[in-house]
Amino acid sequence: MYNIENIRKDFPILSRKVNGNPLVYFDNAATSQTPQQVIDCIVDYYSNYNANIHRGVHSLSQEATDKYEQARKTIQQHFNAKHTHEIIFTSGTTHGINLVANGFSSLLKKEDEIIVSALEHHSNIVPWQMLCNSTGTTLRVIPMNDQGELVISEFDKLLSTNTKLVFVNHISNALGTINPIKYIIEKAHQVGAAVLIDGAQACPHIKTDVQELDVDFYVASAHKMCGPTGIGMLYGKEEWLKKLPPYQGGGEMIAEVTFEKTTYADLPHKFEAGTPNICGGIAFGTALDYMNTVGFDTIAAYENDLLQYATKKLLEIGGLKIYGTSKQKTSVISFNLEGIHPYDVGTILDKLGIAVRTGHHCAQPIMDFYKIPGTVRASFAFYNTKAEIDALVEGVKKAKMMLS
Ligand code: ALA
Repeated sequence: MYNIENIRKDFPILSRKVNGNPLVYFDNAATSQTPQQVIDCIVDYYSNYNANIHRGVHSLSQEATDKYEQARKTIQQHFNAKHTHEIIFTSGTTHGINLVANGFSSLLKKEDEIIVSALEHHSNIVPWQMLCNSTGTTLRVIPMNDQGELVISEFDKLLSTNTKLVFVNHISNALGTINPIKYIIEKAHQVGAAVLIDGAQACPHIKTDVQELDVDFYVASAHKMCGPTGIGMLYGKEEWLKKLPPYQGGGEMIAEVTFEKTTYADLPHKFEAGTPNICGGIAFGTALDYMNTVGFDTIAAYENDLLQYATKKLLEIGGLKIYGTSKQKTSVISFNLEGIHPYDVGTILDKLGIAVRTGHHCAQPIMDFYKIPGTVRASFAFYNTKAEIDALVEGVKKAKMMLS
């Protein structure tokens, strides 16, 4: 039996007030909140064994190294990667995508093509545009439909032997659509293309098995899944990580350096130049342990219940339109009130203690498709409640009354 009250006790921030009202935190797609277990882990690191890793013979350094590498193992097991060295610590999803894009700049030719989707976050568009500008490669886009789904028949048409790479998000951050990535990966592999999946929005909701998907690259951020900001992971198949050149030069990523020549360290260190976010990496592992203790099946079922409830209640408000109505959807609701700017709605909700995101959500092409400047986005996590959704619905009604 899911004990929501006990879960909520793990998150100290949920009992604070904002503007005199109890906080209702519905901006989970931007960043999730942090349980006490992860906060304790961070305090423990800085209180007891703060040291640089892979460098010292002293005990503190050994202890920090062991914990950091244990976290890598936890991440490997969570995503079911074949090898621990296929997990590269990054500063987050954007870093992981840029690392791969940079690597491919030396492998692509002018006649090659790469495919992204209309549902991407800017971080899965701009690095590929930059790559295309430097290599002359052509960028193609899988279109979307009114429900906020990819038009997969068009993807099939875009694929050819010129296609070298395909980049799609697992779940749209702006609309919540769950994309058919298994199909996309299979089809892309049939023409010999590699696939990178942006898993930033999927990781808080779905337990992903990279071997089962047979995906080439998968990227995620810890802060979307109860961990700290500034840390994330890139999964890459060993064969690809060996093929790609290093992203940044520096300490840690080398085997031997002379002024004539440098040889690179083995995986994963080849891609981890400089002192990493050690505490963040360890806390990422703790966050995954925490979420796995709650259980991803439990999380998915609970959040789907919240999604259905909130969708029904919000649609009872006249003039409210939801963007993104795919049947395959996670707990994100993007909406607008007719004739009212999303920013104004967000501002009134904030006065009531309700945190939502407003704007284009770093996905301007989606907003252009719907011909709107942006939306109000409420995104739910496993620690939210129906009572909080009721508060949102009342807040939206109030905003409508004040702004109409
Ligand atoms: N990508 C994050 C969001 O969707 C920041 O809000």
